[in-house]
Amino acid sequence: MAGNAKLDLGDKTIELPVIEGSEGEKALDISKLRAETGYITLDNGFVNTGSCTSAVTFLNGEKGILRYRGYPIEQLAESSNFLEVSWLLYYGELPTKTQMAEFEKKVASFNELPEGLESMISSFPKSAHPMGVLSSATVALSAYYQDHLGPNPTDKDKEDLFAQLLGQVKLIVAKSYRNSQGLDPIASDSSLSYCKDFLNMMFGEADDEVAKALDVLLILHADHEQNCSASTVRVVGSSHANIFSTISGGIDALWGQLHGGANQAVLEMLEEINKAGGDAEKALEKAKDKEDPFKLMGFGHRVYKNFDPRAKIIKVQCDKVLEKLNVNDPLLNIAKGLEKQALEDEYFVKRKLYPNVDFYSGIIYKALGIPTNMFTAMFVLGRLPGWMSQWKELREDPSAKICRPRQIYTGPTERNYKALDER
Ligand code: SDX
Repeated sequence: MAGNAKLDLGDKTIELPVIEGSEGEKALDISKLRAETGYITLDNGFVNTGSCTSAVTFLNGEKGILRYRGYPIEQLAESSNFLEVSWLLYYGELPTKTQMAEFEKKVASFNELPEGLESMISSFPKSAHPMGVLSSATVALSAYYQDHLGPNPTDKDKEDLFAQLLGQVKLIVAKSYRNSQGLDPIASDSSLSYCKDFLNMMFGEADDEVAKALDVLLILHADHEQNCSASTVRVVGSSHANIFSTISGGIDALWGQLHGGANQAVLEMLEEINKAGGDAEKALEKAKDKEDPFKLMGFGHRVYKNFDPRAKIIKVQCDKVLEKLNVNDPLLNIAKGLEKQALEDEYFVKRKLYPNVDFYSGIIYKALGIPTNMFTAMFVLGRLPGWMSQWKELREDPSAKICRPRQIYTGPTERNYKALDER
C-alpha cells in the first residue's frame, strides 16, 4: 500500500487506497468505489485499467523494457532457450540442470496426439486457416483428457498440463501444416530439441542454425503481461473453465489482425508494396488517411511508446538468418525502407508509433520456410507458456474473482410492450 488518494464527487469525498508495484508503478484500488459512491469507472479498451497484479512479466513502454521474472529479454534471447524460458515463466525461477533435464524429457514424452484428434485435423480442408484448426484441436483435447476438466486442478495437474500442452500444441501445428500440403505426418522424434523436432515434423529436416533462430523467436513471443490474448485467457480461466477451452480462447483472441494476426498482415502488406513496385510512400499515406481503415501493420503498440525491444532483436536476427540461409528477400529491404520513412514522418513520430514484434518476425518465418498463414500459429507456440503462467497465477490467487465488468447503459428507458396489431 502507498497511502490514499482523495476522490471528490461534489456531494461526497472518498479515499481510494494507492497500490505500488515492485517497479514503482502506482494504481488506485477502486474495488470499494461502487459500494461507497454508486459510481463505476469507464475505460474504453482498458487503456488505463489494471486487471490484476502479476509477478510474471514487467514491461515499461516508455523505456522499451521487457523482463520475464526480472530477467531482461535481451539476456534471455542471447543465452537461454525456449523450454528454459517456459520453465522460468511458469515456476518463477531458472531451472537447475536436473529440473531442466526432467522438464525437457516430460515435454518430449507428449509426442503423440489421440488418434481421433489426428483424424479430426486430417478432416479439415487443406485451405483451412491454421488458427482455426489450432483453436478447434486445442479445445477438442478436452474430449480425450476428460479427467482434466474439473474446476479445481491440483498443482500436479497444472504442471502435467503445462508440459502436455507445450508438447501437443507443437504436434497440432506441425500436423495441420502437413495436412494443408497434402503430406503424410512426420512423427515426433524425442531425441531432438523442441525446435529441431518441430522443424523436422514440418519439413523432414532440421538445420541447427534455423532451429536456433526459431528458438529465439519463440523466446521473444513467450509472454507480454496483460495483452489482449493473455487477458482473454484470464477472463475464461476466471470462470474455472478447463485449460483446453481457456487456451483455445487465447488462440482465438490472438488471431485478430490488431494482435497476433498482424505478423501475417505485415507480410501481405509488404508483398502488396513489392507488387506495386516497392514504393512505401503509398502505404504510409493510406495509413495516415483517417477515411481509410488501413493501418501500417506491425507498427504501433498499446504500451510501447518507444521501440519494442523484441522488434530490435528480431531485426538483427533477420539480417543474420537471411545471410546464413543465403536468402535475399526484397521484402526485408522494403520493410527497412518503410521503417525509416515512418520514423521520420510527423504522423508516426507525433503518435509515437514504432515497429512492434510483428514487423520483422514474418520475414524470418518466411525465410525458415513457414507459410504466411501459419505465422500466427507460430505466435501461439511462443505465447503458450506465457498464457499458462498467467492462468496458473490467476488460479493460485486467493483474491481472484470471476471476471464480470460493469457497463453504463445507453439504450431505451422503460416502455410497455405493444401487441402486433397496435404497432
Ligand atoms: C501485438 O498488447 C500487446 O502486448 C500485444 C503484443 C503481444 O506481445 O501480445 O505486443 C503483440 O499485438 C503487437 C501489435 C500488432 N498489431 C499491429 O501491428 C496492428 C497495427 N497497429 C495498430 O492497430 C495499433 O497500433 C495497435 C492495435 C497495436 C494499438 O492500438 P491502440 O493502443 O488502441 O492505439 P490507437 O488505435 O488508439 O492509436 C493511437 C493513434 C490513432 O490515431 P489518432 O486517433 O490519435 O489520430 O495512432 C494511430 C491511431 O489511428 N495508429 C496508427 C497505427 N497504430 C495506431 N495509424 C496507422 N497505422 C498504425 N499501425
